[in-house]
Amino acid sequence: MSAERVLPDDRERTAFQESMAALRERSRTIGDCSIMELFAREPERHARLSFACGPLSIDLSRQRLPLAELATLFAHARAAGWQAGREQMFAGETINVSEQRAAFHVALRASKPMTLADGVDVTPEVKETLQRMREWSTAVRDGRHRGAGGERITDIVAIGIGGSALGPDLACEALASCAHPDLRIHFLANIDPTAWRSVRQGLQAGSTLAIVSSKTWSTAETIANATTVREWLIDGGISPAALPRHFAGVTARPDRALAFGVAESALFPLADWVGGRYSLWSAIGLPLMLAIGIEAFDELLAGARAVDEHFRTAPIERNAPAMLALVSLWNSLALGAQTEAVIPYSAALRRLPAYLQQLQMESNGKSVDIDGAAVDYPTAAVIWGEPGTDAQHSFFQALHQGSAIQPVDFIMIAPPPGPLSKAGAMLLANGLAQAEALLRGDRETDDPHRRCPGNRPSTTILLDALTPHSLGALLALYEHKTASLGWMLRINSFDQWGVELGKRVALRIGTLLADPSLALPGDMDPSTRALIERLRQR
Ligand code: F6P
Repeated sequence: MSAERVLPDDRERTAFQESMAALRERSRTIGDCSIMELFAREPERHARLSFACGPLSIDLSRQRLPLAELATLFAHARAAGWQAGREQMFAGETINVSEQRAAFHVALRASKPMTLADGVDVTPEVKETLQRMREWSTAVRDGRHRGAGGERITDIVAIGIGGSALGPDLACEALASCAHPDLRIHFLANIDPTAWRSVRQGLQAGSTLAIVSSKTWSTAETIANATTVREWLIDGGISPAALPRHFAGVTARPDRALAFGVAESALFPLADWVGGRYSLWSAIGLPLMLAIGIEAFDELLAGARAVDEHFRTAPIERNAPAMLALVSLWNSLALGAQTEAVIPYSAALRRLPAYLQQLQMESNGKSVDIDGAAVDYPTAAVIWGEPGTDAQHSFFQALHQGSAIQPVDFIMIAPPPGPLSKAGAMLLANGLAQAEALLRGDRETDDPHRRCPGNRPSTTILLDALTPHSLGALLALYEHKTASLGWMLRINSFDQWGVELGKRVALRIGTLLADPSLALPGDMDPSTRALIERLRQR
């Protein structure tokens, strides 16, 4: 093809392929270097790989990445269009091309007017929804919004799944220390009847309020659970006419929520430019606002905003989310790392790994690029983890001595000023110790069973405290890491078509299970067929 006939898209793709090839080449030769030797050789290493980002301090210096390789990584980010992607996201452009939508969650926490690329200023709708959330949640919190029989609301059942649940669930648990003392928030996501059975323990219909959160208002689990809770409320003595006092809805499909029976005054809209896993900052955060109150919710938004500002303005060399993404890319190419463990040294952050699983794996678990062409490089790592110190007594064995390298993100919380409690000191000491042990290993012993090879990479993220502000910052950091990695891999981080197939198959199998007289399709695989037959016999 002659140079004149090369389209801009082709040039972009070619530049990306070339820089990816260069990166793979470099990473193959460098992957074995010693991190301790890098520290000795590179006096500026710690400073160059440490980042302040709002209330977060991020240390990437214990990654197996020589400073000299940063140039190749930055060149790749440039060729892949990282900067353009970032600008397009903040400009409200249609970056989610397969769904023809913007991914404009930054507008939900902005302090300045934000306009979609088509010229629509979203600020009024964001402000109006936030204001309505504030008024409604305050009325519930201070007891002005009561149940049908006049009882004060004491229990909220937050019904939703995936992105409509994981963020508020994580944040309610993380921020429990600043939650309303007389309002309990219960999350109901799973369709398994035992989930509802355990949530409903001790609940009284008259003092219970359900919030149904579903962008599409068509997710099978959510609609089934909402229907179950509605029946339970009626069985508990709430008349059908009074039901709207016990329901709120958060959705981009108000028509469906109204048809379900949610009152217009308790209906909170969700814009189509907010993706489920990026939606904690929208009306999806309503259960959290009920728990922690409006000032604390504003603090959460402010924490995320501080990171947005950093991400939008910092050059790549000092841009913490972009650097996290580059490290992730490097580890997958240089070390063949297929997973990233997230270990919060805080029991309150127990749900963080689950939240980050959806954020990163639903976003980047793709095998075609933005143009639909198959990729020949690894995309999303498997995200997993448990809080330290529990995890140390479980899978850390494999982190220290397993044959595969699993990079770790250690999440630690700085203690309040003043003397440390004994337990608090032990918790911090363990987090620091594990990162150091992974780095140094133990090669002194002659016993191969006891030997720890060390040189295992980790990142440490230190929060200045566990507050709404620092939590908002932490989650925004990972959001931007995820999007950055998507641009560096040239994939769309904002769609999730892969989850649809399972939903369709489940519908078909559900029908077959419900009606044993239906013949099983001739082309059904022998394994599924045998299992359905077995279940039908029971
Ligand atoms: O099935 C995946 C998914 O669509 C997620 O992307 C989303 O967060 C979740 O289901 C819930 O969807 P909804 O808010 O429409 O109920």
